[in-house]
Amino acid sequence: MPKVRFLRSGVEVECEQGANLRQVALKNKVALYPGIHRFANCHGMGQCGACRVKLQNGTEKSAGPKTMLEKMRLAMAFFNIGHGDTMRLACQVKVMGDMEVQEQPPTNVSGTYGPEAEAAKRRLREGKL
Ligand code: FES
Repeated sequence: MPKVRFLRSGVEVECEQGANLRQVALKNKVALYPGIHRFANCHGMGQCGACRVKLQNGTEKSAGPKTMLEKMRLAMAFFNIGHGDTMRLACQVKVMGDMEVQEQPPTNVSGTYGPEAEAAKRRLREGKL
């Protein structure tokens, strides 16, 4: 059974392979939604983006592939900038292996963090940009 570690809340649980990440979080009382989104969300329909999580330390490979709905929602979101495959919608993620999950990751409006942004900063420091 895969282990899911929620980094912000410090909760670590085991779940069935293929379990829905949102359901795993809610069942274990993990604060998946920020602020008012705890009540005002789309309840797992992949529309609001409030359940976004960042999969850490290479564990994004343990998530099932993005659904078309998730790809479309992420394409319209600032919070996805600079995060590639690591930013996901918990309601659309199938847990296929061990995962480390950052709940409520910050919004990246400016694109100033994430792997791509860090690489750009490094190139700038090295005078290669
Ligand atoms: S709960 Fe709304 S997108 Fe996941």
